Amino acid sequence: MSESNPPLIELVLGIESSCDEMAAAIVRGGREIVASVVHGQAQVHGPYGGVVPELASRDHVRSVSEVVAGTLEQAGLAPEELDGVAVTAGPGLIGSLLVGLSFGKALAYRAGLPLVGVHHLVGHLASVELGAREIRPYIGLVISGGHTALYRIEDAAPPALLGETRDDAVGEAFDKVAKLLGLPFPGGPSLAAAAEKGRPDAVAFPRPMAHKSGLDFSFSGLKTAVALEVERRGALSETDVADLAASFQAAAVDVLLARARRALSQAGLRRIAVVGGVAANRHLREEMARAGEVDGFESLFPPMALCTDNAAMIAAAGATLLARGVRHGLDLNAFSRVPIDATLFPSVVQ
Ligand code: KG4
Ligand code: ZN
Repeated sequence: MSESNPPLIELVLGIESSCDEMAAAIVRGGREIVASVVHGQAQVHGPYGGVVPELASRDHVRSVSEVVAGTLEQAGLAPEELDGVAVTAGPGLIGSLLVGLSFGKALAYRAGLPLVGVHHLVGHLASVELGAREIRPYIGLVISGGHTALYRIEDAAPPALLGETRDDAVGEAFDKVAKLLGLPFPGGPSLAAAAEKGRPDAVAFPRPMAHKSGLDFSFSGLKTAVALEVERRGALSETDVADLAASFQAAAVDVLLARARRALSQAGLRRIAVVGGVAANRHLREEMARAGEVDGFESLFPPMALCTDNAAMIAAAGATLLARGVRHGLDLNAFSRVPIDATLFPSVVQ
């Protein structure tokens, strides 16, 4: 057994509550999902058109016991039969994170299990490795409501940040543009659905940063361009909404694609994994596959259910860390912002 591939901890319970999903899952051997439960809050936040942090954490408090108990029941396991607990410690909404983290700590303490805190983005990256063959090294493109970043993932090293957004995350841009177009929450999927009926070339929106050097992103200019066009048109017909949605989506996907291609060529790699909520976008999946055929790279996407927040990805990432000997104490804190560094991804375990 090489040092970079230590044996995985058998049964890990993951808990994820960084935003508006309360989720728990049990994963075997870091790869196989034994049970998974996701409790969403669309009804809680829908009337406000966006996630209200205080309401998110209150709903988490109400659902956490049931979600974890339901997961154990689905797996037919008692807590004492598990081998470890992995819980998202950040980044995310602090009140939301604290609910899952506190529950995870209590469970680990009561059942005498090792505890590990997981970085939310390391979790998203693990979503593509669940059930997969060995895929490292690869470029990881993390695209969600809170993050847009490119990483290089190699062996057991922490993911190396190559570039990130300087302003809005791409999922945030989808959500804000959906709101501008009067589409229902959650915005990303409603915008993608509206775009199906529109013309992607109806408006030539800007492709910010697509051809600039470096690997950073920017989406606020694109969002503003849509806002100005909406203002210019006044009352929007159904066709206007579909055309604007399709044209925005085409521009956002073009930017992601251009940056992905640049990252692959700079790193000299031929494999990219696209993870996070926006990886559920059908147009992006198609365009990425087409570009891969032209350039000769492979693009991997998690199954739809593992694109948005879930706990199977946290259990999988936690299993790898636990197998490397990483343990956190009951003093582990939650972090609203935290890089993938020594706190949540120690390279050397003492
Ligand atoms: O990963 P995730 O569940 O939560 C965060 O960590 O942020 O991602 C949620 C984001 C939201 O911005 C949502 O609008 C977006 O993913 N999203 C989509 C689609 N499905 C979800 N964006 C574009 N197209 C979709 N089909
Ligand atoms: Zn996420």
